[in-house]
Amino acid sequence: METSSKYFLRMTFCFFLLTDSSYAADFLSIACGAAAGRTDTRNIEWVTDDGFIQTGKNLRGLDAGFPYDSLKYFPEGRSKNCFVLPAKNATTYLLRISFYPGNATTAPSIDSPVDFNVTVNNDLWLTYAATADIRPSGWAEAVFHTFAKGEIYLCLVKGTKGFPFINGIELREQNTSSYSLVKKGKFLITSDRYNTGTKPDNGTLLRYPDDPYDRIWFPTPTSEFPAYPRVENMSVTSSPATLTAEDGYNWPPTKVLEDAWVGRNLSSPNFQRPDGLTLLYVAFYIKEIRPVNVSEADPIGMTLGLNSFSFDVNITNVNDLTVSITRNISDALTVNLTVISKPWSKQSAILNGFEMYSVQDVDTSETFPRDQDPLTAVQRSFGLEDWTGDPCYPVAWDWVACDSTSRISKLLLSKSNISGTIPVEISQLKNLTEIHLDNNKLTGEIPPSLLSLTKLKILKLDNNSLSGPIPADFQDYPGFTFSGNPGLCLTGNGSCASPPGARPPSSDASTAVKLVSNKLSITVAVVLAVPILDYLMRN
Ligand SMILES: *[C@@H]1O[C@H](CO)[C@@H](O)[C@H](O)[C@H]1NC(C)=O
Ligand SMILES: *[C@@H]1O[C@H](CO)[C@@H](O)[C@H](O)[C@H]1NC(C)=O
Ligand SMILES: *[C@@H]1O[C@H](CO)[C@@H](O)[C@H](O)[C@H]1NC(C)=O
Ligand SMILES: *[C@@H]1O[C@H](CO)[C@@H](O)[C@H](O)[C@H]1NC(C)=O
Ligand SMILES: *[C@@H]1O[C@H](CO)[C@@H](O)[C@H](O)[C@H]1NC(C)=O
Ligand SMILES: *[C@@H]1O[C@H](CO)[C@@H](O)[C@H](O)[C@H]1NC(C)=O
Ligand SMILES: *[C@@H]1O[C@H](CO)[C@@H](O)[C@H](O)[C@H]1NC(C)=O
Ligand SMILES: *[C@@H]1O[C@H](CO)[C@@H](O)[C@H](O)[C@H]1NC(C)=O
Ligand SMILES: *[C@@H]1O[C@H](CO)[C@@H](O)[C@H](O)[C@H]1NC(C)=O
Ligand SMILES: *[C@@H]1O[C@H](CO)[C@@H](O)[C@H](O)[C@H]1NC(C)=O
Ligand SMILES: *[C@@H]1O[C@H](CO)[C@@H](O)[C@H](O)[C@H]1NC(C)=O
Ligand SMILES: *[C@@H]1O[C@H](CO)[C@@H](O)[C@H](O)[C@H]1NC(C)=O
Repeated sequence: METSSKYFLRMTFCFFLLTDSSYAADFLSIACGAAAGRTDTRNIEWVTDDGFIQTGKNLRGLDAGFPYDSLKYFPEGRSKNCFVLPAKNATTYLLRISFYPGNATTAPSIDSPVDFNVTVNNDLWLTYAATADIRPSGWAEAVFHTFAKGEIYLCLVKGTKGFPFINGIELREQNTSSYSLVKKGKFLITSDRYNTGTKPDNGTLLRYPDDPYDRIWFPTPTSEFPAYPRVENMSVTSSPATLTAEDGYNWPPTKVLEDAWVGRNLSSPNFQRPDGLTLLYVAFYIKEIRPVNVSEADPIGMTLGLNSFSFDVNITNVNDLTVSITRNISDALTVNLTVISKPWSKQSAILNGFEMYSVQDVDTSETFPRDQDPLTAVQRSFGLEDWTGDPCYPVAWDWVACDSTSRISKLLLSKSNISGTIPVEISQLKNLTEIHLDNNKLTGEIPPSLLSLTKLKILKLDNNSLSGPIPADFQDYPGFTFSGNPGLCLTGNGSCASPPGARPPSSDASTAVKLVSNKLSITVAVVLAVPILDYLMRN
């Protein structure tokens, strides 16, 4: 048995009372790009992506059945596009996303080479890459916990080529006791999920309603697994038991438990380990379903293992077990599972199903919380609400730059066709060094509170329709520019006699613009500095 401390490992035995699983966990199924929702053959209701994302274009009529006959793609070229999925706090979810480019030749984005990353909150989940000849179709699953967050950001992060796309999003609440590694800050990426004991040639995938949590269970392919003896069609009954759920009892569905491989050695051959990731979580599902009496005194003894690590378990026919191993297998390029009965055991080993996941640490990086509300105010004021997800992570919005302390350092909105007024909340983004708002259609006044941004070096407001007074001190900064705003006037020289903003563009306006490019005389600046200082001190 492997004992080296360099390995992160854990083994747990979970016993649970099997009960009727007739409750309703929360499901959300989104047919991306679809014109209308629909109920599928499993009686699962699919909705359109309305309300989950505002960007992207729809492509419909692909050569696939609903819900894969439509997709959403993102030709806007944004650094990322994020779906915002409603979720419950402190809840474990399985998320399944699907990609079916199909015959989507009308969208060059889909037809030509494309690569993009998919992230959940800030966790890198997968990279989708297609060449002109090979356009992969399929789905991916991940399991994670929401902690305090009441929503999930599913982001498509633009790569080097083409436009990201997605066909389907399925969010499935899992039982609170399932996959409890996620409650310790892990993000699990599904690698394999097998229903052992079905006929190997049984092409039927087992999922909802047979699995109330709608995980997809595969029959074991003959290409990868030996044709082990099977028991099938057994009725699974329950008996009282105790839960010791360090890594969770994962609630394998009854249908998975009622057939199994049986034999003295049910080990897997070596198979390729999941790409890149070396920390694996394996859950073995074990329930004695043979018509035998297996007592505590005379149990079934089994050795379960992952690569060179293994350990022994004793099984009676009372309980069903989730036995899990989490281990870093970076020393090996292949994975193998050991399921062997102990020589003394009267009954041979049994395996009803198993799952394997890659384990990542959750990346908790996020934009500095106190910058989030002011930035939301900026979005609202400029009509930029369709930028969703975390402003800084996993990549920043195109019009935002963030500093090493996760604070907003730049607003990059030159020539962005934005209108609205400059919100005073902008001055709560304390680490701003640059504000680029030139060549837009902004109206209203320049908030004097901008002067409280001590790190601000560049403020470009040229060529807008701003009006009212320019706070005098602004003109002491060479990086602050205002030209091309006919309604702006300069405080202190008399051109701001009427109430700010009420002044129609006139010959005075050109004076104001001209003055902007001149240095203000020292006397005027000193006089004007008083109310501004007063303002600064009050803030
Ligand atoms: C894809 O195939 C379907 C069904 O064959 C057809 O109706 C549709 O027009 C095709 N779409 C494209 C973009 O070629
Ligand atoms: C959910 O999280 C939000 C944000 O942290 C928090 O305000 C709220 O109280 C939480 N609700 C529950 C039920 O934990
Ligand atoms: C996508 O993820 C890969 C790692 O899998 C990373 O090397 C790459 O930089 C990422 N690309 C983007 C655009 O984030
Ligand atoms: C978890 O399973 C138990 C037992 O079936 C059930 O009572 C509970 O509602 C389930 N919780 C969720 C969130 O599915
Ligand atoms: C395939 O296996 C599932 C699950 O064990 C079972 O319900 C189904 O009847 C099987 N189908 C065939 C064709 O044997
Ligand atoms: C299990 O049920 C399937 C479908 O009803 C049947 O074809 C098969 O022969 C049964 N197997 C056994 C061992 O009874
Ligand atoms: C169990 O089976 C595996 C794969 O078939 C084989 O490599 C291994 O040597 C066997 N172990 C024992 C103890 O028989
Ligand atoms: C298991 O034990 C019970 C009680 O001792 C007995 O009634 C039953 O027939 C036994 N079952 C088998 C399959 O041996
Ligand atoms: C399983 O993997 C371990 C580690 O790579 C290796 O030492 C062992 O030989 C493998 N077992 C089999 C049966 O191939
Ligand atoms: C399993 O049971 C056997 C026989 O009763 C016993 O010798 C052994 O220590 C037990 N092993 C474990 C891991 O409980
Ligand atoms: C796995 O082990 C390797 C080698 O010891 C180490 O570099 C790597 O960080 C470990 N991975 C995890 C996720 O612990
Ligand atoms: C951002 O501001 C904080 C104080 O709020 C400061 O500690 C941090 O160093 C600043 N970051 C940068 C990159 O200036």
